[in-house]
Amino acid sequence: MAEPVAAVSIDAPVDLAAALSERIRGIGTSQIGLVADRGRDDPDVVKLWIGEGDLPTPPFIVEAAHRAMQAGHTRYTTSLGLPALRAALSAYHARHWGVDVPADRFAVTAGGMNAIMQAAQALLEPGDEILIPAPAWPNLAEAVRITGGVPVTVPYRIQPDGRFSLPLADIEAALTPRTRVIMVNSPSNPTGWTMPLSEMTALRDLARARGLWILSDEVYAHFTYGNQIAPSFLQICTEDDRLIVTNTFSKNWAMTGWRAGWVIFPRGLAPTFAKLGQYSTTSIPTFIQHACVAALEEGDGFIRTMVDRCAEARTILVDGLASLPGVTVAPPDGAFYLMPRIAGDEPSLELAYRLLREAKVGVAPGTAFGPEGEGLVRICFAISPELAREAVDRLTRVLGRI
Ligand SMILES: Cc1ncc(COP(=O)(O)O)c(C=O)c1O
Repeated sequence: MAEPVAAVSIDAPVDLAAALSERIRGIGTSQIGLVADRGRDDPDVVKLWIGEGDLPTPPFIVEAAHRAMQAGHTRYTTSLGLPALRAALSAYHARHWGVDVPADRFAVTAGGMNAIMQAAQALLEPGDEILIPAPAWPNLAEAVRITGGVPVTVPYRIQPDGRFSLPLADIEAALTPRTRVIMVNSPSNPTGWTMPLSEMTALRDLARARGLWILSDEVYAHFTYGNQIAPSFLQICTEDDRLIVTNTFSKNWAMTGWRAGWVIFPRGLAPTFAKLGQYSTTSIPTFIQHACVAALEEGDGFIRTMVDRCAEARTILVDGLASLPGVTVAPPDGAFYLMPRIAGDEPSLELAYRLLREAKVGVAPGTAFGPEGEGLVRICFAISPELAREAVDRLTRVLGRI
């Protein structure tokens, strides 16, 4: 006779979340998501909480993807990326930074996020420490935790006028025998801090002296105000330095949903990144890679339009907010975020909820970027001048009350 099958009681709670790996259980919840969940569906809210511009992807890129699909570019391709795309990336770096990075030092990734994940996978042993200046885009630390590494934050200093700085001595003081990587995100999300070339050179020298890696996330390089482009570690490092640079198509060409980015690694590491790509995404869609070639080859004008638009919105928001009582804000050198300090002891998450409720403006709470962000909020200004004026008017009505 067959054994009776034990009935599974539907009342028996099975906490499968508790059965996951400790690393995965420790992953944080996004505070930006908490605020966005309360206002996402309200069409009256001016939504400045996400790191994304409001322009659509330019038609020449969309058409290139269509053409590639119609031409049958819908099959597997090499995991490092199409040779034509890697060559276009090399030419793009030569044109904008004057650097000679051969195509065989690039891998195409599923966005900047996947580039960072691959870098973390390549560099970190469990327990290895990586220094991250903070407040920081939260995905950086979470990618590190997923790989078993330990994110160690180095707080930016905030000047009385609201500017951010990062003295080399603060980085040096945070080093321990377990430190393996120093992460730099310049221009920074969320602070807008942009590392001058002289400070990059000093950090490179420190990293060389201690045998440390630099992981440089340069996704906002074009978004600088006053300069043509932000400096890159590629300008001062050799092909044999311990340097990994990550970048993305998302911000320059309004391609956040296309999930295309790239990683640049030292000479000789292509086989490693080919394997990392192979065993994570195997490649990004082939027709998207063709569209990426169009973005690189024909997209400089669109970048200029985006940056000029951001510059205008930045001025409107900084001028409008700086005059409000209790608000300290400096024009950021780069990226497309303001991080004003709002006086008072209201926790920044509560403040973000209140601005959503009372001003109908959606901002990201500073603490979404770590405890270092308490007292601050992040406002994305990759928007039209009209929307920037509307946001200032609404915020003035709430924050302007004495
Ligand atoms: C600092 C920083 N790095 C990397 C990325 C990655 O962007 P994506 O994965 O959309 O390419 C972002 C996106 O917001 C970012 O802010």
